[in-house]
Amino acid sequence: MIISASSDYRAAAERRLPPFLFHYIDGGAYSEYTMKRNTDDLSQIALRQRVLRNMSSLSLETRLFNETLSMPVALGPVGLTGMYARRGEVQAAKAASDAGIPFTLSTVSVCPIEEVAPAMSRPMWFQLYVLRDRGFMRNALERAKAAGCTTLVFTVDMPTPGARYRDAHSGMSGPFAASRRYLQSVQHPRWAWDVGVLGRPHDLGNVSAYLGKPTALEDYIGWLAKNFDPSISWKDLEWIRDFWDGPMVIKGILDPEDAKDAVRFGADGIVVSNHGGRQLDGVLSTARAMPAIADAVKGDLTLLADSGIRNGLDVVRMLALGADTVLLGRAFIYALAAHGQQGVENLLTLIANEMRVAMTLTGAKSVSDISRELLAANHLLVG
Ligand code: GLV
Repeated sequence: MIISASSDYRAAAERRLPPFLFHYIDGGAYSEYTMKRNTDDLSQIALRQRVLRNMSSLSLETRLFNETLSMPVALGPVGLTGMYARRGEVQAAKAASDAGIPFTLSTVSVCPIEEVAPAMSRPMWFQLYVLRDRGFMRNALERAKAAGCTTLVFTVDMPTPGARYRDAHSGMSGPFAASRRYLQSVQHPRWAWDVGVLGRPHDLGNVSAYLGKPTALEDYIGWLAKNFDPSISWKDLEWIRDFWDGPMVIKGILDPEDAKDAVRFGADGIVVSNHGGRQLDGVLSTARAMPAIADAVKGDLTLLADSGIRNGLDVVRMLALGADTVLLGRAFIYALAAHGQQGVENLLTLIANEMRVAMTLTGAKSVSDISRELLAANHLLVG
């Protein structure tokens, strides 16, 4: 398949992956309304076309948490990335650092912190869930610190798992899941050889290192489900803020009141997110949630956003709605599954090019020029 647009990678990933993995990354909660709203609402944002403004010099660079980013994009945390390509976290992390942007390692990655961080030419970001096992949390934080991680992304929108019905249908979970996964794998020989055979161990690397014994894919859902902690509140996060010296970002904020609480808590940033529509189906898209959150807290902390961003035009739209930088999730996993590190590198080049076109035709010479001024007066979401 010839890849000429960032959106082409989804089809390429679908062909390459066993269905249980494709649907795990591609799917959302319940009927997937929120997941669809994320992309639909973003695509409806109309920008103002501006012309004859000498756009010969243009910069995508931005500063964030004392780092320079080549563009306002980071790779967000995605569990099981190493099942999508051989040692996938390492490949994605290299692609990100070569492109001059951050990579965030998920708690539930296949490759452990110590395998990924040294592969990068810039500090890694690390994501942590709120888990019942505080010993694991402390251990993971200590190891992330020792590996030189700077920014901690703390996910708070998973006090309980969202129901993803596709997983039961596809063989990720449900009856005969292990044998269905095996059958699907042998029907996808390129994946089976590259990841199934050469990409071992298929471990939850960070969890195995803590437990001192191997974990398996079967343990993934089980371990998470056992470990989600619905009792969590802002108070429980205080020891982490005290423990962690670098920037702390709270991921999973969708309401202006929670955003204000994050400022009171002393967070350095938030990620406006509905977890890619994978948690509560029926909540707002992040495009719709962003303007009110930006009104409430812009300038008090760094505003990151994810959910529904698939290309460079979406990046510009989300920044126009109020974000400072965006995180990619599915978008980079599709590219990684299709063509590994090179796929992610190419995706990031395509996104930078798409951003350049959007900025040239909206008259934004730098990232700080991207504001609500770029939104057409009659567009559907704000105004
Ligand atoms: C984990 O965070 C997931 O969305 O599957």
